[in-house]
Amino acid sequence: MHPDVKEILLTAEQIRALVAGMAERIAADYRDREPVLVGVLDGAVVFLADLMRALPIPVRVDFVKWSSYADGSSSSGEVQLLKDLSFSVEGRHVLVVEDIVDTGLTLRYLMENMETREVASLAVAALLDKPSRRKVAVKLDYVGFEVPDEFVVGYGLDYAQRYRNLPYVAVLKPEIYRAA
Ligand code: PRP
Repeated sequence: MHPDVKEILLTAEQIRALVAGMAERIAADYRDREPVLVGVLDGAVVFLADLMRALPIPVRVDFVKWSSYADGSSSSGEVQLLKDLSFSVEGRHVLVVEDIVDTGLTLRYLMENMETREVASLAVAALLDKPSRRKVAVKLDYVGFEVPDEFVVGYGLDYAQRYRNLPYVAVLKPEIYRAA
């Protein structure tokens, strides 16, 4: 275990099982449709990479990137679109792929943005959900795991751009982010 980690919430093995289960549900729901998986950079890359390989159906993949919140660890203000999709999703079935939904602000902006593009359908797959921190209501169609209100890192999730490469989801020791 990484020395900055207090506790592992999801082991690599548990994540594999969650991703496989979610992929099964998505594959069944989209068996007659070819979804466009829209990964939200940067955090969702690890989850998206595993999810797309677990899906036995044809998919397209694209990415968007929003500006991060200024203070790094809490979700406060406005976000801006830094990287847009590379191709049109008009008439397509968009499945937004997020690593975590916290306040819901990022997702709300993204959903509003996607709704302007005349998509055929719009749904959300989030590996982690932290409902205790929600500021705006968002509908999650596929959720892997509900996390407590703690600072979680790993499997794509960062603190100050670090820990994304940990193969598990873990709670960071408070002294690590308090010291910053
Ligand atoms: C994280 C995560 C979500 C967002 C969720 O991204 O990947 O996109 O925060 O938080 P919210 O529900 O409070 O909006 P972050 O802004 O940290 O950028 P990153 O993906 O590059 O780490």
